[in-house]
Amino acid sequence: MSTTFQLDTATSRANPTPAPMKRLTIPAIRRRKKDGVTDEPIVMLTAYTARQAQLLDAHCDLLLVGDSLGQVIYGLPSSVPVTLDMMAAHGAAVVRGSYHSAVIVDMPFGTYEQSPQQAFESASRLLKETGCAGVKLEGGEAMAETVAFLSNRGIPVMGHIGLTPQAVNVLGGYNARGRSDAEAAKIVSDAKALDDAGAFAIVIEGVVEPIAIEATKAITCPSIGIGGSAQCDGQVLVTEDMCGMFERVPRFVKRYADIAGLISGAAEQYAQEVRARTFPGVEQTYQPKKPA
Ligand code: KIV
Repeated sequence: MSTTFQLDTATSRANPTPAPMKRLTIPAIRRRKKDGVTDEPIVMLTAYTARQAQLLDAHCDLLLVGDSLGQVIYGLPSSVPVTLDMMAAHGAAVVRGSYHSAVIVDMPFGTYEQSPQQAFESASRLLKETGCAGVKLEGGEAMAETVAFLSNRGIPVMGHIGLTPQAVNVLGGYNARGRSDAEAAKIVSDAKALDDAGAFAIVIEGVVEPIAIEATKAITCPSIGIGGSAQCDGQVLVTEDMCGMFERVPRFVKRYADIAGLISGAAEQYAQEVRARTFPGVEQTYQPKKPA
């Protein structure tokens, strides 16, 4: 069953009334994996703005308001400085711009690690202020108690293991994980711990392929790969990466467009026309009405 659909946005740019369709639900996403098999892989992309969400919504099952917005939108050096206020504002915009995909909002660094109670306060704020369907948090076994605490209290949680960018200061960089036996075993046991705790899906990021496959097979909930394997139960990429917004292309990214080239080409042409006084032309200016 394909989840693609046609959305008639003619009634309003951002808020057709009534909403044109029911959103995918977290239980429906979770049920995609049955007895270890996912016939229809889960499609997830990041989104940070309402317009971006509108463009992606028809093609995705899940939209992730990732804390990667720190680097992508705010020009920060890592996701560590991202705040709950930022996530709440962008999460609400993405929910306003989408009708079909379930929206997941990242819990930023420092807003959930201290205790399950701290995590509940942060996550419930995100659900209330954005209307998102669930939250994502980073970490394996150490976060299992928190995942169970939230899941048992009405907050769907997506886990995130392997290369966890919020832990960059501990990991020492963004290199792939799972190359040593100890690291590989930890990734698989992290996946199992989050699955047992009730995570509805788990992102497996930057993990050598055989371990991404082993972790996927070890869990009952869907895995979502990024720098993992096509055998994961779904995939996610940062939209700006796959659309070619940046010059640097990490190994796990496939570029499907050259948005940076289009934007700088358009800006170059606009600048030339302004300097040559050929923009605005007659079509873009208001002329006095001709007498009847
Ligand atoms: O923040 C993010 O965009 C993410 C994805 C890359 C999985 O966590």
